[in-house]
Amino acid sequence: MKGDKVDLTGRVAIVTGAGRGLGFAYASALAAAGASVVVNDADVGAATGAVAQIAGMGGKAVAEPGAVGPSTTADRLVERAVSEFGRLDILVTNAGVLRDRMLWRMSDDEFDTVVDVHLRGTFTCVRAAVKRMREQGDGGRVIVVGSPAGQRGNVGQTNYSAAKAAIVAMARTWSMECVRADIMVNAVIPVAATAMTSTMPAFAPHIEAWQRDGTPLPEWLRAGEGFGTPEDAAGLVVFLASADSAGVTGQAIGIGGDRLSLWTHPEETTMSYRDGGWSADAIATSWASTIGRSPQTVGVPMPVPPA
Ligand SMILES: NC(=O)c1ccc[n+]([C@@H]2O[C@H](COP(=O)([O-])OP(=O)(O)OC[C@H]3O[C@@H](n4cnc5c(N)ncnc54)[C@H](O)[C@@H]3O)[C@@H](O)[C@H]2O)c1
Repeated sequence: MKGDKVDLTGRVAIVTGAGRGLGFAYASALAAAGASVVVNDADVGAATGAVAQIAGMGGKAVAEPGAVGPSTTADRLVERAVSEFGRLDILVTNAGVLRDRMLWRMSDDEFDTVVDVHLRGTFTCVRAAVKRMREQGDGGRVIVVGSPAGQRGNVGQTNYSAAKAAIVAMARTWSMECVRADIMVNAVIPVAATAMTSTMPAFAPHIEAWQRDGTPLPEWLRAGEGFGTPEDAAGLVVFLASADSAGVTGQAIGIGGDRLSLWTHPEETTMSYRDGGWSADAIATSWASTIGRSPQTVGVPMPVPPA
């Protein structure tokens, strides 16, 4: 994309979990737009392989492997960006894992692992990056990663939906805290064919065909479901990393296939008032005719292939 309007020449980015999947697509696209990229992944081979691929495409990248979560990893990533490339402008906190299980079977360890990688990993990395960006004094871009499961809830994903919803909540708070330092903070809500989604029955045959011989994903997936390849999600990250997104902050932005979307933030939709306040009896009597009239829906609608 270098030479096009969105140009990141001279910018320095960190992408966590960039060894494969969406993170690799983000790191490659940032490098293609001219940024120098610190590629992090818990999987050392994936991180070094990604750097080799980016270099092969003419991009500038270094690997800094390690598991995000602890602040020591976060600090190391920022130190590497500065020692290697002299500064830090962009952070994408993409690293993630799943440990799906119904609530009544989920272990403490499954809960803690997911919360540690996604939620603590986002907190520690953003804190370290924002400290550096504030010291530099010329703004920055923070892009965190949510999920439809966090926005809407999803069966079997207590740990994941909690962490992803909390990440978007942090982005709202950080956008307010960082705006005076000209640091824009936004959440991307991607949907793409990766190791994380390839087991979903409705998607699997199409993902297999795309991986096998590049067969394009069908229209009902790309536009209808907003589901595409990791590369489809990368343009949004490059935009949010660039000068063109100045003033865009505190947003949760959906991307997948042919669909770009803006998510709402939670807000009160219906209000009822009663002189003297609401006793349990008063709520019970009027629930169905007041705020209970149109309850909110939950869950991510399942994809429906055409008949
Ligand atoms: N694929 C989707 O449709 C989808 C939808 C919503 C959100 N997301 C989110 O996008 C992000 C990337 O997902 P993906 O589908 O590309 O997954 P993926 O499994 O293909 O890639 C995730 C990468 O993160 C790395 N990783 C795991 N734990 C790590 C840690 N502690 N530190 C550093 N790296 C670590 C893995 O080694 C892997 O390379 C995740 O945060 C995920 O929750 C994905």
